[in-house]
Amino acid sequence: MTIHVEPMTRWPMRTLSQQPTAEVFLSGTSGYERCLDRDRAQQQEAIELGATFHDCDKLVVLGIGGSAMGLRALVDALADRREADRLVLLDHLDLGTLEHELDGAQGAKLGLMVISRSGTTLEVMAWLRELLGRWRFERVAAVTASPDSPLGRLAAEQAWPTLSIPDDVGGRFSVLTPCGLLPASALKLPVEDLLEGARNADPAQAFQWAGDLHHLLAGGHDRWLGFFYGKALSGLAGWWLQLLSESLGKQGLPLYVAAAEGPRDQHSILQLLMEGADRQALIFSYWDRPAATPGAGPDLLGLGATDLTAMERILFDANSQALSDRGRPVLRLRLEPTAQSVAACMQNWMRATALLGSYLDLDPFDQPGVEAGKVIAKARLGLG
Ligand code: PA5
Repeated sequence: MTIHVEPMTRWPMRTLSQQPTAEVFLSGTSGYERCLDRDRAQQQEAIELGATFHDCDKLVVLGIGGSAMGLRALVDALADRREADRLVLLDHLDLGTLEHELDGAQGAKLGLMVISRSGTTLEVMAWLRELLGRWRFERVAAVTASPDSPLGRLAAEQAWPTLSIPDDVGGRFSVLTPCGLLPASALKLPVEDLLEGARNADPAQAFQWAGDLHHLLAGGHDRWLGFFYGKALSGLAGWWLQLLSESLGKQGLPLYVAAAEGPRDQHSILQLLMEGADRQALIFSYWDRPAATPGAGPDLLGLGATDLTAMERILFDANSQALSDRGRPVLRLRLEPTAQSVAACMQNWMRATALLGSYLDLDPFDQPGVEAGKVIAKARLGLG
């Protein structure tokens, strides 16, 4: 078991209404489960193409939303520091930040991966103009589901190696397709372990999370907060927030999802969680690293053998306990610090999200609400 699940007093642990087998996830409209076994050849291609970028001093990855957040989650959790420092992830529009990152890298070998399912996303297209006009990339690759898009056509013209995202896997469900696997391999992440972790994820956890959250929502706990402890889980927090918000925030459903990071946000939102309205369901996640030896500086409080990691664990336990004692429904998840565990966690949250969509009678795989802003932006740009 790579994820240890600890429901606290008021967390419902409803009796499962469906047999928790992974079969049900294979037959849905989205292929995020099917692709794990079906697309082995493409996974291998992503691993091999990614390895050709190992000699790049900097790897610029251009993508946003579902085409970037999964990668960020994997890198934060699993990349060693040197590899993480090679990554420049352009999920923003700040040229100054990029200049700062690349200008120190004069003479460096640069790699570029452009990842966009639609191949038309405004931010991605705007960045391409900047990047290709100013920097020279030793290696370039593209990932898209749309060969007949501006990105797909440019990639073909330039003869960039191009991988496809399966038609049946949408952005926020695509971390274990070439979308996440190609840059993961380029950053030397253990891609095979990730895939194995996802394939072996215990489906009972997904059923339980979905059943419990559905039950809590029906009882008025319509504010779901993921509280992530450990810097390694920072990217996972963002990915989780996008997955649940963009998939389930539909049809006037009274649901609000937020993510917080511990211990930082204990000093900002804990008061509200403790004494605000009793509408929250709290999911605490912890990256279960082994404790180390404390520093040799002055021990002002008498912490003794408690190092920073052990302190983080104590705060995770203490604050989840305090909220549970206050009557809040709290679920604690402890993740073993491995690729298998991160992938199992992501796969089970994707499964739980799909189940919740069906329990709530909404389509978790579309995002009509984000289109309106894109239409207005394109009109203002004169793009029709
Ligand atoms: O999850 C989603 O579908 C979105 O967040 C998309 O990934 C995001 O809008 C980027 O789209 P694209 O990959 O087409 O550039």
